[in-house]
Amino acid sequence: MKPFVVSFKGREIDFKGRRIVRRYRDIMGIFQAVDPTLESENPVVYEVFEAPIPEAEGELMFLVTILYPGDVKGEYFMTKGHYHVVEGTAEVYLGLQGKGLILCQTKEGDFEAVEMTPSSVVYIPPYWAHRTVNVSDEPLVFFAVYPAHAGHDYETIEREGFKKRVFKTETGYVLR
Ligand SMILES: [Fe+2]
Repeated sequence: MKPFVVSFKGREIDFKGRRIVRRYRDIMGIFQAVDPTLESENPVVYEVFEAPIPEAEGELMFLVTILYPGDVKGEYFMTKGHYHVVEGTAEVYLGLQGKGLILCQTKEGDFEAVEMTPSSVVYIPPYWAHRTVNVSDEPLVFFAVYPAHAGHDYETIEREGFKKRVFKTETGYVLR
């Protein structure tokens, strides 16, 4: 592999890698309620643009995620969330647009929620699961980078969920 550069502006993202699209029906089980209107419209909740990096130790994967605004009966749109399969691997997010909340938790029961706005950098240490929630009314766009061999363990979160959910209020959001 040779050094390369990719650029992106707004939603004109082409990292020449994989594009992962998660629609409502793909992930509806992560929300507390079911919304029949969303079920029939099946909108894109988020999409991920990965760089063409091999999933090998020593490599760094980077990607841009667009998490669209919306909610399921008041619960804000969010990503599935995961632990890394190689648990001792960290991740860095850089906020580009919108306002998000990063929910983090460990298998020992620790829980933290960190806000992400444009130009803020969020550090997710090894052993912390992470899920992103869009708490704004515009697309939440962020850049992420992590060891390319980290792998994604979605099953543990599917089984156990996160300790808290994020709901819309008159003035902002609430965790409960
Ligand atoms: Fe991750």
